[in-house]
Amino acid sequence: MDIDKCSIIELPKISDPRGNLTFVEGSNHIPFDIRRVYYLYDVPGGAERGGHAHKALHQLIIAMSGSFDVVVNDGNKKKRIHLNRSYNGLYVCPMIWRELDNFSSGSVLMVLASNVYDEEDYYRDYNDYLSARGRQI
Ligand code: TYD
Repeated sequence: MDIDKCSIIELPKISDPRGNLTFVEGSNHIPFDIRRVYYLYDVPGGAERGGHAHKALHQLIIAMSGSFDVVVNDGNKKKRIHLNRSYNGLYVCPMIWRELDNFSSGSVLMVLASNVYDEEDYYRDYNDYLSARGRQI
């Protein structure tokens, strides 16, 4: 699971002068079934979130409003992705360290996740994560 697997998925968009509509079907538009949705909002300027990896969780991260950056890192390579379109989602596969920053004022970040919350699924220590990946610390 390396960062080349983390890519933008362009979701269906029904353009309409009354307002655009986007939808997501689990295992159709994204490579997993959706078992949980959560969102970040009221993020203060300069805040940084994330700073962890998941052992088995698949996620799609969407900027529902405003913009922010996601830095994905596989312990070998990293890339910074700017999200600012609500019809785009960043797919993050398991075993990827992610950090979120550069939130615009009023931004809302939504995550579609393949499983319910489980603290046992997290690596919260970067050195533990690197060890699990067999990388040099
Ligand atoms: P965390 O995943 O560390 O947030 P972020 O990656 O956005 O910085 O979660 C922050 C806290 O919220 C942590 O105490 C766990 C709790 N939490 C839940 O209880 N359920 C959830 O679905 C999520 C995502 C977090």
